[in-house]
Amino acid sequence: MGEVVVSLDGVVRRFGKLVAVQDLSLEVGAGEIFGLLGPNGAGKTTVINLITGLLRRDGGQVRVLGFDPQTQARQVRRQIGLVPQDTNVYGDLSAMDNLWHHAALYCDDLDAAGGRIEELLRLMALWDRRNDPLRTYSGGMKRRLALARALLHDPHIILFDEPTLGVDVQGRHVLWEHMKTLKSRGKTFIVSTNDMNEASVLCDRLVIIDHGKAIALDTPEALRASLGRDIITLHTAPEIADPESLFDGLDVQEVARPEPGWLRIETKNAEARVGEFVSRVSTQHRLESLRIARPTLDDVFLHHTGRALRE
Ligand SMILES: Nc1ncnc2c1ncn2[C@@H]1O[C@H](COP(=O)(O)OP(=O)(O)O)[C@@H](O)[C@H]1O
Ligand SMILES: [Mg+2]
Repeated sequence: MGEVVVSLDGVVRRFGKLVAVQDLSLEVGAGEIFGLLGPNGAGKTTVINLITGLLRRDGGQVRVLGFDPQTQARQVRRQIGLVPQDTNVYGDLSAMDNLWHHAALYCDDLDAAGGRIEELLRLMALWDRRNDPLRTYSGGMKRRLALARALLHDPHIILFDEPTLGVDVQGRHVLWEHMKTLKSRGKTFIVSTNDMNEASVLCDRLVIIDHGKAIALDTPEALRASLGRDIITLHTAPEIADPESLFDGLDVQEVARPEPGWLRIETKNAEARVGEFVSRVSTQHRLESLRIARPTLDDVFLHHTGRALRE
């Protein structure tokens, strides 16, 4: 991790009796894509709003390049760009008009804005569509425009709330590539998501949040490896009625039955053990399918909370 550009230390935020953020500490390094991963209601948007200064905290410290968003709002706003969860763009206006509208409201130097708008629209591959009204844009294009808008004043740090919520598969990949390009140009991202796939593909490091509390913080690879087990999924006919006795002595850490006929087994070092599983199953069952997989971030969340990320 490079120089720390954003830090939270013991941050607390309440809404009435609800503790939306509980004692949260983290550091984001320059040039990182840092993720906030958690289910709906985990507190991700609240954390973003505490960093931008849109919300006041009830305890702890927040620093953005050394500035406190509560008392040094002007310095902080100059350094951050925010892409909110809902892309609130004007559908009847073109991309060009939307950016000009934003520039007129927020940019000090309007003479420079024209060149900057062109540069950003080209960077986001929207230049050819610059005069089309936004209601003709795909979800992914609207998100790219919102990102361009957040970049107008050339901030160091971009807070991106749910980058690809409601964006189709192809649009997601395009958006991720744009974000990685910006990262290679030195931008830092803080990204919220409830999608483990997005978190794995996009983030250099991430914190998993549940009910406002950090559960784990590391690189996606390290988080997955930290479970120290693999997952074997078996589909059999008939179904395995009594897995405990069938797999007795096989170092099974956990067994679940996601659907009738299917078993999900957590075990250490699955490659070495899979032969033994198969030979025991095959004595009285036909094996319809078998899959070995490394844990996903969903498994990490499940392990810590007993729930799936999307429930
Ligand atoms: N302005 C608010 N007033 C009351 N409760 C809120 C407010 N904003 C968020 N909350 C609550 O705080 C919790 C965290 O919300 P939020 O940060 O939006 O979660 P996420 O972005 O992870 O879905 C939720 O329980 C939500 O209902
Ligand atoms: Mg949110």
